[in-house]
Amino acid sequence: MIEISRLSKRYGAKTAVDDVSFSVRPGRVTGFLGPNGAGKSTTLRVLLGLDHPTSGTALIDGRRYRDLRHPLRTVGALLDGAGPVPERRAIDHLTWIAQSNRIPRRRVREVLDLVGLGDAAGQRVKKYSLGMGQRLGIAAALLGDPEILVLDEPVNGLDPDGIRWVRTFLREFAAGGRTVLLSSHLMTEMAETADEAVVIANGRIVARGSIEELTAGHASLETAFFALTEG
Ligand SMILES: Nc1ncnc2c1ncn2[C@@H]1O[C@H](COP(=O)(O)OP(=O)(O)OP(=O)(O)O)[C@@H](O)[C@H]1O
Ligand SMILES: [Mg+2]
Repeated sequence: MIEISRLSKRYGAKTAVDDVSFSVRPGRVTGFLGPNGAGKSTTLRVLLGLDHPTSGTALIDGRRYRDLRHPLRTVGALLDGAGPVPERRAIDHLTWIAQSNRIPRRRVREVLDLVGLGDAAGQRVKKYSLGMGQRLGIAAALLGDPEILVLDEPVNGLDPDGIRWVRTFLREFAAGGRTVLLSSHLMTEMAETADEAVVIANGRIVARGSIEELTAGHASLETAFFALTEG
């Protein structure tokens, strides 16, 4: 369970996140939607302990990320811009994360197979395509077999095949009773992937609910999104 309560984050005079509250339930895919600069990544960074809130709380299973006893076993994360060393082989990258978190080595093979990189395990990461890199990032997030996945723009730049793979994977993960929170500004993709959505604009939550509820009265989630986020 993810619970964000009255969270605010200011950078100098700029308020990136403004009194944001929402919770994310297990067994569903929850989309975190908003235009560029809305405050999505900032919220997720605070949730994952990579930034301090100015006020409010962002809790995972009732604790701050840094107070989790086994962070990687609790929540797996994929954030933009946090990639592996390009010279490394994929398997070495994952083994290093596993070892530094007391995760058994055999789990590395398991997650590589899970994301379809079993045959590319020995390749250097710099030779990976964008889609393979995203799969590797998801493999890393899965190392601790967490109940919760938090992903910032996981389908950015992926081709239709890659997008479909991520969508299917996340839907199955949630169908097994686990929790998925993913951010995106791609409305058509989100309408197909998420069960619920939280919409943020200018640092403030402007709507939340099931995709059906948010789309009601509009031609599509996209037109609903523009109606919610404009002005
Ligand atoms: N370290 C920082 N210092 C100053 N301002 C920041 C910092 N990080 C984010 N901001 C500002 O906070 C606001 C929210 O940024 P954030 O990256 O959270 O948006 P986002 O919703 O993830 O956008 P995008 O869709 O482009 O990824 C933006 O105006 C951004 O310029
Ligand atoms: Mg972002």
